[in-house]
Amino acid sequence: MAGLALVTGASSGIGFYLAQGLAARGYDIVGVGASSRIDELPGKLLEVTVYPVRADLSSPDGPKEVWAKVESLNRPLEVAVFNAGKSLGGAFIDTDIDDELQMLSLNVTSQILLAKPVVRHMAERRQGNILITSSLSATTPTPYESIYGPTRAFMYSFAQGLREELREYDVNVTALLPGATATEFHDRAGMQNTAFGDNSTKNDPELVARLALNGLFAGRDHVVGGDRKTRRSAVLNKFLGEQRKARRFSKDSREQ
Ligand SMILES: NC(=O)c1ccc[n+]([C@@H]2O[C@H](COP(=O)([O-])OP(=O)(O)OC[C@H]3O[C@@H](n4cnc5c(N)ncnc54)[C@H](OP(=O)(O)O)[C@@H]3O)[C@@H](O)[C@H]2O)c1
Repeated sequence: MAGLALVTGASSGIGFYLAQGLAARGYDIVGVGASSRIDELPGKLLEVTVYPVRADLSSPDGPKEVWAKVESLNRPLEVAVFNAGKSLGGAFIDTDIDDELQMLSLNVTSQILLAKPVVRHMAERRQGNILITSSLSATTPTPYESIYGPTRAFMYSFAQGLREELREYDVNVTALLPGATATEFHDRAGMQNTAFGDNSTKNDPELVARLALNGLFAGRDHVVGGDRKTRRSAVLNKFLGEQRKARRFSKDSREQ
């Protein structure tokens, strides 16, 4: 029987290509999305069985609904991809606190709520691969996305800590750090009038997903998702001071 993989945020962007890449490796997919678009996933991945789950992961019930679906299949979960996420552009002085709290729920709280049963399930079976989508934003201050960046830094640190804990259970954890990628992400974040709003200069989500899955199955601790320029930025961010990085980032994230 084929293995089973869970992918959150599978209806579009990087998550869709991660689901597609896992399907190409023979995994059946539990694909999660917020809108009815997730119901189109089975028609796009015809070679495997796809179980679409529409759930709002920013609500406390969302992660429970997703895990209930996985459990109902009564199959071992071999791969889990925590990828659903969003940003909010704008100066903190102007942005809406309820929007920010909703983003924190989606980008952080929902991830650990869902990770808890996934980790216990995989550790008990002493087998599994977990991919956590963080961001290159985890390595820099992110002015004009000032709450988003810290949510990705949280997930990067969580991934690295969890990786060490799960080594003794033979469960692998890999963090994905994409650079700016051409998806609906910045549009949804209301950043159309920023340099990040221009998708023509960004990474191809299919490339990001391919690098991520290669790194995951090679057991790497993290993968920088993107082209040469993106990988160069990741190296530079290790050496540049925080103020310098903040200034650089704001050139792309601030409204023009
Ligand atoms: N694009 C970038 O530049 C970039 C860079 C670094 C890191 N990332 C990270 O990559 C991940 C994926 O982003 P993307 O670029 O692929 O964005 P995207 O195209 O906007 O896709 C976001 C996905 O998350 C789902 N989603 C959004 N809100 C949700 C909710 N409340 N409950 C359940 N699912 C929800 C969406 O479902 P619907 O389509 O049904 O709404 C969609 O499948 C995010 O974690 C992001 O932080 C992106």
